[in-house]
Amino acid sequence: MTTTDDRIDSLLDRLTLEDKVRLLTGRDFWTTWPIDSIGLRRILVSDGPSGVRGEVWDERSPSINLPSATALSSSWDTRIAARYGAVCAIEARRKGVDVVLGPTINLHRSPLGGRHFEAFSEDPVLTSELAAAYVTGVQRNGVGATPKHYVANDSETDRHSVDVRPDERALRELYLAAFEKSVTEAGAWLVMSAYNSVDGVTMTENPLLETPLNSEWGFDGVVVSDWTAVRSVEAANASQDLAMPGPRGAWGDALLAAVQDGRVTQAAIDRKVRRILLLAARVGALDGFDDLATAPIDDEDGVAFAREAAREGSVLVHNDGILPLDVSAVRTIAVIGHNAREARSQGGGSATVVPESVVSPLEGIRAAFPDARVEYERGAVVAQGVSELPLSVMVNPETGEPGAHVAFFDAEGVELYSEERRAAALVFIGGDAPIGSTDSIEFTTRFTPEATGTFLLGFAGLGAGTLSVDGREVASLQTDSTSNDVAAKLFSPPSASTPVELRQGEPVDLRVVFRPLRDEALTDALALTVGLEADASAPEASRARAVEAAARADVAVVVVGTNAQVESEGYDRADLDLPGEQDELVRAVAAANPRTVVIVNSGSPVLLPWRDDVGAILLTYFGGQEYGSAIGDMLAGHAEPGGRLPTTWPGAIDDVPVLDVTPQDGVLRYDEGIHIGYRAWLRAGRTPAYPFGHGLGFTEWAHEGVSVETSADGDGWIVSVHSSNRGDRAGKQVLQVYAEKADSRVERPARWLVGFESVRADAGRSAVARIRVPARTLAYWESGWQNEPGDYVLRVGVSSERLFGEVVVGFDHDGASRVGQAAEGRVGGVGD
Ligand code: BGC
Repeated sequence: MTTTDDRIDSLLDRLTLEDKVRLLTGRDFWTTWPIDSIGLRRILVSDGPSGVRGEVWDERSPSINLPSATALSSSWDTRIAARYGAVCAIEARRKGVDVVLGPTINLHRSPLGGRHFEAFSEDPVLTSELAAAYVTGVQRNGVGATPKHYVANDSETDRHSVDVRPDERALRELYLAAFEKSVTEAGAWLVMSAYNSVDGVTMTENPLLETPLNSEWGFDGVVVSDWTAVRSVEAANASQDLAMPGPRGAWGDALLAAVQDGRVTQAAIDRKVRRILLLAARVGALDGFDDLATAPIDDEDGVAFAREAAREGSVLVHNDGILPLDVSAVRTIAVIGHNAREARSQGGGSATVVPESVVSPLEGIRAAFPDARVEYERGAVVAQGVSELPLSVMVNPETGEPGAHVAFFDAEGVELYSEERRAAALVFIGGDAPIGSTDSIEFTTRFTPEATGTFLLGFAGLGAGTLSVDGREVASLQTDSTSNDVAAKLFSPPSASTPVELRQGEPVDLRVVFRPLRDEALTDALALTVGLEADASAPEASRARAVEAAARADVAVVVVGTNAQVESEGYDRADLDLPGEQDELVRAVAAANPRTVVIVNSGSPVLLPWRDDVGAILLTYFGGQEYGSAIGDMLAGHAEPGGRLPTTWPGAIDDVPVLDVTPQDGVLRYDEGIHIGYRAWLRAGRTPAYPFGHGLGFTEWAHEGVSVETSADGDGWIVSVHSSNRGDRAGKQVLQVYAEKADSRVERPARWLVGFESVRADAGRSAVARIRVPARTLAYWESGWQNEPGDYVLRVGVSSERLFGEVVVGFDHDGASRVGQAAEGRVGGVGD
């Protein structure tokens, strides 16, 4: 029988050098070149990672919007991660997508990282376990997964050029470790190389693409570049396989010439083509390889899963007993906060998907408390700039249906194309609209205001535009960007608005003519949002109304959060504060009503300076399209928040041990070495607001014993923890094992995570968690993984700081693992 390699080689023989080189650059934004003569169709890739957008960014082709990756990692549950991956694969197949551009698994090195919502954790073990499960869930359904961005793209400032300098141990023990299992265990079919450099070499040319990825981890997939990250033909000499997007780029004819004159070898080209053909075979894009293509096996209701995942990923960090609320006793609820009605269900940037609809916290609370009177007040403005007009207030003048008419014109004013849309937030990357030749876009809708007053009407988009109301031009507006990041300019564009007096229920014809300013690196992409800017001119009055509502209610629920200027792609955060006057709002509401619950709608840590003055705090991240339903479920006690912190939440920015993300002379040094996240907090002896691993449920647990044995494969240990649920409802507990080695001959973290497991038990029942601790988690890197002989204390707990039991294990001098004595676990009270 001929092997897969032989079969692929025989296809390779049928390709010319021109065919091969062409295949190494994308055909457009999202696809590779087909080659009919060998039965190769295009491969379609798509972002992810919290859902799958598909080939177009368009509300007419909606996608399931899952909770952000930080919510996924908060579940500490590999089963949830695998199902999350499976839902992405099902979505991908539904949309004809072959490859999901995710998971994003860079580490939360500093909380200022603007794109943390998209990544998992500050810890490499938690990240690698969950990422591998995500990859498995995607690929067992026949779709490729793409762990990204390899490697050390842990912040966004100057991401295209920054030269990151981690030391070798940090690189191996943290940043590469996050990726390792996705390759060695889950067998990822792709890995995305990052924009940044590591140790002076840009990642698309970096030797790390070969070692450890290929030579040590056995990667046989495709290294796809981050978009435009391939910069030279030299990258073809590295283990960089596919340059995206196309059809332009640094390779193309320049690469052909480089092969012809010997600067790049034919063997290097063949190796890349082989890998792309193998990927095509795996995703079913290559005729004659049905034996390699995996038929989808999972069946999952994506909407129901989005709701479950949002609950499993919400972290209750503080509760004075107010939660869960008693549905039958609560008669009035004041729901307060901009994000309560206009929630962020996902972070910004290329990760965006377009959901059919999003359940807001306000809607979710109304549904969960059907007999209560729910009053809403915004309280403080959070969203900056123009937010899209909702569909409910727009009628398309061409069709009479909800929506808008959008027409595209060239420089001579000739209409090139038009479409009928059901949204006012428009992004064109790929798709049918002739963006490259478009000079201006005209957006028309009939807008019916829901109130009488002054509206700030305008648009978000880089360029200039005019705004007309009922045929009269009311403003000529211009925007400019300070960012030098192409994605930031596109996805978080500046906005401009003008005040217009309108009356409730009286429709007006709204027309925006927008002339975009193009970035030369992205002439085929365009974004425009038409809508309203929130009026932030009277904060005291707004807050006073919220306080009055809270004072008259049985319970106040304040939803605070970040906005698109704080968390998106292409820039980092300037600080960790909640934007706008939200801290003042929470303080005032809590003073008016001690029964105040705060829900935090951010993708990553924010400061909560009033945290001891409120009844409960629930961190819900960007909760996906079922966000509000999940919040309703948890507040009403229909479900327990299942999350535990995957990242430390600081109390004050000055306490954060690893903060700086600004390169100096183009270089970002990871001077802290292996000490990031909770490792750094422990080392500095500082106390955060909420430690890594922390999270409360609605029941009480007692832990009745800890024991250890050597694992069946002899390559580590199994720590067993016997816990019982002493409360009156079912619950989940996440048991965590941390190692310590006080007498180490090398520098070690004060404590580091080596294993975890979640258990569930009904009221009055007990459960045994069997937590695998692989020997590798105790090793350190010094020209290879070293098992230092001697004892290690494994401490068991429910956060990096709440530890209740310990056992001792170790390595003999010959490197063999052994079990030491087990100390009794303390009983009671932990996790209540
Ligand atoms: C992002 C990637 C993304 C790619 C394609 C880049 O700007 O960094 O994560 O997959 O664009 O949208």
